[in-house]
Amino acid sequence: MRVNGRQLPVGSSCAFGRLAKGRRALNNLFAGFAVPILIRGREQRVEEQANLDVIRWTELELPEGLEMLVSEAVVSGHAWAANFHAAWRSRPFTNVGEALLLASSGTNLLGMAALTADPFVEDATTGRLRFIYVRHTARRQGVAERLVRDCLALARGRWRTLRLQTDNAFAARLYERHGFRPSASDPRATHTMALAST
Ligand SMILES: CC(C)(COP(=O)(O)OP(=O)(O)OC[C@H]1O[C@@H](n2cnc3c(N)ncnc32)[C@H](O)[C@@H]1OP(=O)(O)O)[C@@H](O)C(=O)NCCC(=O)NCCS
Repeated sequence: MRVNGRQLPVGSSCAFGRLAKGRRALNNLFAGFAVPILIRGREQRVEEQANLDVIRWTELELPEGLEMLVSEAVVSGHAWAANFHAAWRSRPFTNVGEALLLASSGTNLLGMAALTADPFVEDATTGRLRFIYVRHTARRQGVAERLVRDCLALARGRWRTLRLQTDNAFAARLYERHGFRPSASDPRATHTMALAST
């Protein structure tokens, strides 16, 4: 399904897309969620997941709110996030098997994940999971879980191998639960996964 030029892969709504460019949406991006998260238990977490939308962004112009999400990542010490805009500008992740996925709840942008050809290997069958970030106030609600799951669904049938790099033990646990295996010797990848042949 396509809305305003964007592909909506799974159960998505238009609310985020309609409002993302407005000032109100910009303000909303940093509003809400803090209090509910402090008291959230398992049942509430499941309920929250039901409101989660993930869209595949295919317009060259990125939504305004994404800049703030990336800034939060950089300010939090994730230096790799500073490369995101340059990577997108040099070649947007819109080819088959590539994607920029944005997770939102209503007008709140909660997280991002990218699936691209692996720029660190000369191999057309290797893809890479990159730029995975979830807002502080939206963590532990299954946002990354959903983003990784959707990335893997898009990767199957396109990439033979997927690679990623992380120094975050929590993220590593999440990736390993989805089938990634630690790869000790590769300076450009801490984890790899073999997918069914394309
Ligand atoms: C790592 C990150 C993406 C996880 O996002 P998230 O939306 O909070 O993750 P989820 O809620 O989907 O949790 C998925 C699983 O990750 C693990 N996890 C995530 N955060 C965790 C934490 N703070 N403590 C313990 N486990 C955690 C758990 O295994 C969790 O599953 P479970 O609680 O159901 O057992 C997020 O913390 C983040 O953006 N961190 C900073 C950026 C980063 O490190 N990105 C990864 C770069 S490769």
